[in-house]
Amino acid sequence: MDSIFVNSKNVFLDTVNVKDYIQLDRVSTIYQSLKDSIKKPLKMILLYGKPGTGKSMFLTKLYSDLSEENNIYLYQTPILDENEFYKTLAQDIFNIKYNDELNFTQFMKIVKDKKTKQTPIILLDEAQLYSEALMEKIRLLSDTRSIKFIITLHKTEKEDLIAKEHFKTRIWETIELVNASNSELKIYIQKKLMKANCFDTANMFSTKTVNKIYKLTKGNYRDTNKLLYTLFDIYITYEQSSHIYPFNTTHIPNKFVEMAAIHTGLINA
Ligand SMILES: Nc1ncnc2c1ncn2[C@@H]1O[C@H](COP(=O)(O)OP(=O)(O)OP(=O)(O)O)[C@@H](O)[C@H]1O
Ligand SMILES: [Mg+2]
Repeated sequence: MDSIFVNSKNVFLDTVNVKDYIQLDRVSTIYQSLKDSIKKPLKMILLYGKPGTGKSMFLTKLYSDLSEENNIYLYQTPILDENEFYKTLAQDIFNIKYNDELNFTQFMKIVKDKKTKQTPIILLDEAQLYSEALMEKIRLLSDTRSIKFIITLHKTEKEDLIAKEHFKTRIWETIELVNASNSELKIYIQKKLMKANCFDTANMFSTKTVNKIYKLTKGNYRDTNKLLYTLFDIYITYEQSSHIYPFNTTHIPNKFVEMAAIHTGLINA
């Protein structure tokens, strides 16, 4: 049987899987407002935030919740080639297969001619990777109001500027995702562990320990995942040689958290 530390470690693998989604108060408020926005006649919705704030997770959850009722498509990996982009959309939305080229003008014609019962919703993750040229076409497609785009973007200063340029003149809604607060971080860690039936390790995260983690990760979900993955790795190492170090499982030694932080580069040794 796997040890509780092995199971706990795997909880913090950096993966985006809808079954791992955790409901956090602040996020669910944002989530509700996004769901409302989708119903409005907005052309585009922009979801932005620093790396590791849960944008991909959020988008995946949205997709999973809406996919039964809506005409909705999720592209987690950007389709960088313009032709491929239109071809993929034509195939997915209108069920039209193109073996040859499909350029923007041709695709635009399809969009205008083919009527869909419901406006298709296109979710584009990692939109900072799309070229300026393709983003412009996406905007033009949005203008037809025949397709609705929801895009996510990393927020760095430069990209913030791009976002402003891109959307200045559009009817759009922006939603920002941020790091967890101290108390949200505790809920995040404990819920994640409890979801995987790791109740004992969930109980190890006292407010004091979480405060320490918060100081190191600023509540960033990805950094927290990395830190805790490494922390449980350290536990596994000690467990395998437990005659050396008689540790208890009710309290996490600060030293362990610090060691994990050094390993993950959150503090410099
Ligand atoms: N609500 C949540 N429930 C469960 N896990 C979450 C949640 N939000 C974030 N995570 C975890 O945090 C990690 C980072 O989140 P995510 O990949 O969605 O960030 P991101 O904002 O898309 O980052 P990037 O800008 O680098 O693409 C995920 O792998 C996931 O494990
Ligand atoms: Mg992402």
